[in-house]
Amino acid sequence: MDKSKLTEEIQRLRREKNAVILAHYYTLGEIQDIADFVGDSLALAQKAAQTEADIIVMCGVHFMGETCKILCPRKKVLVPDLAAGCSLADSCPAEEFGKFVKAHPGYTVLSYVNTTAAVKYYTDIVVTSGNARKVVDSLPADEKIIFGPDRNLGAYLNEVTGRKMLLWDGACDVHERFSPEAILALKKEHPEAKVLVHPECKRPVALLADKIGSTAALLKYATQESEATEFIVATESGILHEMQRQAPQKIFFPVPPEVAEGQIGCHCNECAYMRLNTLEKLYHCLKDETPEINVNPKIIDRARLPIDRMLELSK
Ligand code: 13P
Ligand code: SF4
Repeated sequence: MDKSKLTEEIQRLRREKNAVILAHYYTLGEIQDIADFVGDSLALAQKAAQTEADIIVMCGVHFMGETCKILCPRKKVLVPDLAAGCSLADSCPAEEFGKFVKAHPGYTVLSYVNTTAAVKYYTDIVVTSGNARKVVDSLPADEKIIFGPDRNLGAYLNEVTGRKMLLWDGACDVHERFSPEAILALKKEHPEAKVLVHPECKRPVALLADKIGSTAALLKYATQESEATEFIVATESGILHEMQRQAPQKIFFPVPPEVAEGQIGCHCNECAYMRLNTLEKLYHCLKDETPEINVNPKIIDRARLPIDRMLELSK
């Protein structure tokens, strides 16, 4: 089927089945263009919690589908490709995280939304990069806190809030690949450009930032808040699609990742998992209503609490 026919069929199926299509900013442009709503992790969770659709199709990664299912257990939650995982979520196996939590009684557990439902089971409050600072600031100054799994976001939060949270040693493969050298090289060519950095990047990269924030915060800064016309973007390059759409007169330079010797043609500033979402798979997923995300009801009952707390604190 060609692209226009696929688009037509997706529109028809979506209407017939009362389905809503949610997409993360890191997905392919063609997925973002057809979605009912495109957002960062926080906005996607907020949208899922409010939807009146019968079916939610989450074009993102597996943990985002799980978050939708936890928030809407009676709805059918579909993902175009079950193999769309997340290196950051993988860096935090639930059993080991559970042991870590048990070994530190009296600690409040904050988990980044990029975790499995089973990790959220051990969590007191879920956070995203969009609200993490607000959530940390809402806790008493002497609260003992565990933060997992992203060590870079955790270290950044410790720095800006003055806390000494215990950090889980996890990271995102995509964001860890950006290097200060690559940013400085771009800055040399475009000295007026502002540097945008996602907090999942390493500290030497964050130190070069004019703005550190979630994908939605970087987007807002570049398209609405800053008067600059050029931006160097150190996050997954899918966000450039929406940046360019909202500000066609501005210029955005994706930071090339640090590429190991011999890795010719590596598009490592693209999340391979996010890009598993294609129009073709979206069409089949809507037509056949599979693959479906299911979460153990016992985990849903417990994991819902920290997500609700996050949504409450983000109002
Ligand atoms: P945000 O959507 O919160 O910016 O997170 C980035 C990310 O890595 C999502 O997988
Ligand atoms: Fe996970 Fe990193 Fe991909 Fe986000 S960009 S989904 S954190 S692997």
